[in-house]
Amino acid sequence: MNDTRLPRAGLSPDVSVWDPLLRIVHWSFPLLIPALWWTAENDKWALHKRLGLVLLGLLVFRLLWGFAGPQTARFAQFVKGPRAVLAYLRGDKAAGPAIGHSPLGGWSTMVLLAAMLLQASLGLFAGDPFDGTTGPLNPLVGAALADAITEGHETLFWVIAGLVGLHLAAICFYAAKGDDLLSPMIGGSRPPMAGVAGIGPVPWTRGLLACGLAGALALWVAYGAPPLT
Ligand code: HEM
Repeated sequence: MNDTRLPRAGLSPDVSVWDPLLRIVHWSFPLLIPALWWTAENDKWALHKRLGLVLLGLLVFRLLWGFAGPQTARFAQFVKGPRAVLAYLRGDKAAGPAIGHSPLGGWSTMVLLAAMLLQASLGLFAGDPFDGTTGPLNPLVGAALADAITEGHETLFWVIAGLVGLHLAAICFYAAKGDDLLSPMIGGSRPPMAGVAGIGPVPWTRGLLACGLAGALALWVAYGAPPLT
């Protein structure tokens, strides 16, 4: 009988690349972005606002995780200067870390995260109180500014759609070159690599704290950011 529980004697273990919290946050994006578009197109405003706040909370968590998470989640590991990006584009593999985002992928990550964070933030102020629904922070801005913000919120959606298109094209490009980026983002690990140990564990309290802080911020904003004293 083939016992899959037996240790794989003599074989190096797979290399752990992405932690579970980062992966959960990542896969929430392809669920939330189309759902946010659909709810806006179909006037399901209560749901649109709730999902927008969930997206905001997840993005805030991802920002905190960029400082407190394991190596591959950390901005310090993958946000590199132009010299490293150019070296990577010239084919220098050593320009980036052995696992995680390449110097170019790091910047695409920052652009995607920033665009989604801006979009969720604009939504907080968007809308017209005399005509339809408003975001929870709409009363903090005047009608003219809210109008401009609403326009920006609508336009930015299409910018994000374009960025996601580019993101998927890049994943396909690497897949065609034989570099499978998708499996590690699903299962967390990739086949063994000589001399590479993979990400280490992070205390679970850190994840809990980051989730708590992100959730509290999203809730506070949902209630119109009342004074804390
Ligand atoms: C709305 C849709 C999507 C958005 C906004 C999005 C955004 C992102 C972001 C921000 C990252 C960086 C991960 C991090 O460090 O937190 C990332 C990585 C990644 N995404 Fe997506 N993603 C989307 C859809 C997809 C889909 C549909 C796939 C697969 C077909 C995919 C595959 C990947 C992979 C493989 C990586 C890792 C890239 C690397 O190794 O550098 N993404 N994505």
